[in-house]
Amino acid sequence: MYILAIESSCDETSVSIIKDGQEEISTVILSQMDTHANYGGVVPEIASRMHVENITLVIDEALKKANMKMTDIDAFAVTYGPGLIGSLLVGLMAAKTLAFIYNKPLIPVHHIAGHIYANNLVKRLEFPLIALVVSGGHTELIYMKEDYSFEKLGSTLDDAVGEAYDKVARVINVPYPGGPLVDKLAFDGKDTYDLPVPLNDDSYNFSFSGLKSAVINLAHNERQKGNEINVANMACSFQNRVVYILVKKTMKALKDYNVKNLIVAGGVAANKGLREALTKACNDESVNLIIPSLKYCTDNAAMIGVAAYYAYKLGRVAGLDLNAKAVTTLE
Ligand code: KG4
Ligand code: ZN
Repeated sequence: MYILAIESSCDETSVSIIKDGQEEISTVILSQMDTHANYGGVVPEIASRMHVENITLVIDEALKKANMKMTDIDAFAVTYGPGLIGSLLVGLMAAKTLAFIYNKPLIPVHHIAGHIYANNLVKRLEFPLIALVVSGGHTELIYMKEDYSFEKLGSTLDDAVGEAYDKVARVINVPYPGGPLVDKLAFDGKDTYDLPVPLNDDSYNFSFSGLKSAVINLAHNERQKGNEINVANMACSFQNRVVYILVKKTMKALKDYNVKNLIVAGGVAANKGLREALTKACNDESVNLIIPSLKYCTDNAAMIGVAAYYAYKLGRVAGLDLNAKAVTTLE
């Protein structure tokens, strides 16, 4: 079964063709990052306009790369939410139009389900598993006993971890996109700043706004004294706290639920510090760890095509009245 999948929830226009939920035939990702970098973050109105300009080009390119025709496609999949509403609507309209014209099923995919199923490109998911979801909008620990069964164990009470990275980056004058650059800087620095370990309790919840405020306060205090902070050392100190708490609570969930499979999902899964620390912890505890390759950590349509295949097998198809949802729970 060939699925053509579309992802346009934020600032990437992406189209992918996936065979049977595991084989990537082609993927095209058109990033708008350079444009948004001028504004220090994603501007929703610009994002949706750029999706409109690019969507048909990206669809054509994905088919061309796959050496396929539209009539070879068996179903169309699309991210319906969560995300920027204007951006989502562009991908949604494209997918609906194609499903209508070619009279093929339309498969709706939740963006976070996509991030989780990106791991299926590495290896078929083995259940039960714990998923650590870490992106710009989400920080969650999820228990999955089978495909499309998502039991939320805990989540962030305030900022998502990627959001905290991006905000801290701005405070320490690291340009957009902050997350990857802070990660890189962290390896050039030392853990010299006295930052708190955020929400260091027995729950599966997270909190990053206090840690972020601690960085802001330290930076302001230093500037008032006429000093500049050491950016690499601050990046290292911040990243160490974040990685420590993510790893600690993830390993606790694996132990409490007696689970031996861990997958990591979302943009922050690209974080080198987190990847290294989880690899070590999972080695020590004999847990099978899967993390997508860097390309499939951040937003892409391949993950949507993979998630769509398993959704379809469970009969999850939508009518042409499918609507985009800026906010929607994972189900
Ligand atoms: O999953 P994603 O591409 O978009 C959302 O669905 O949110 O995640 C983007 C987030 C951004 O906050 C970005 O700064 C963060 O992931 N990110 C990273 C790294 N790469 C991307 N954060 C820390 N370290 C990284 N290497
Ligand atoms: Zn994402």
